[in-house]
Amino acid sequence: MGKVINLFADASTTSKSSIPKLNQNTLYILIGLPGSGKTTYANKCFHSKDILIVSSDQIRQQITGSSSFNKGDTAPTLQIAQKIIQEALESGLNVVWDATNIYKKWRKDFIKIAKKNNAKVVAIVFNTPVSICVKRNNERTVEKQVPNEIIVEMSKASLSIDKREGFHEVIYI
Ligand SMILES: Nc1ncnc2c1ncn2[C@@H]1O[C@H](COP(=O)(O)OP(=O)(O)OP(=O)(O)O)[C@@H](O)[C@H]1O
Ligand SMILES: [Mg+2]
Repeated sequence: MGKVINLFADASTTSKSSIPKLNQNTLYILIGLPGSGKTTYANKCFHSKDILIVSSDQIRQQITGSSSFNKGDTAPTLQIAQKIIQEALESGLNVVWDATNIYKKWRKDFIKIAKKNNAKVVAIVFNTPVSICVKRNNERTVEKQVPNEIIVEMSKASLSIDKREGFHEVIYI
């Protein structure tokens, strides 16, 4: 595991009564380019009965019959993911949200759901170089490939996480 940044450090400057009491469960939000290794990592590191991996690819597969990248099904995919994550956190499970989550606006509603459930919210950031992501993408089966120009476009986004987003912890892989 890479560098861990504990954003609870800021709590010392906040009055104790304003810090919400956390439940035991955690929402892990994976953040990384297509091909950066998110799903591989999740399957390797999060296999426990009390952890649910929610994958945008799997939901897309269920909705459209294909896990291929398709901009048009993003909204329903996200809506379903949010419902599942809400229910899972509510019932005390830990959840891994496996999607690119590259942009802050894509993460916002998921962080909100974690906070609503008093769950801890942890970012796991995959800093895999874009050239490696593109190489791995080209080596995938056609069904699993993402257009390379999308990966390059996404790589322009900064992967340094702003404390104000609300993560309790940020782990860089
Ligand atoms: N640490 C690693 N070393 C070498 N190859 C890896 C590593 N992690 C993942 N891979 C390979 O890279 C490819 C992409 O990995 P993976 O599917 O986990 O990426 P992803 O971030 O989930 O991509 P996507 O966002 O498109 O779902 C796979 O073929 C996987 O086997
Ligand atoms: Mg994946």
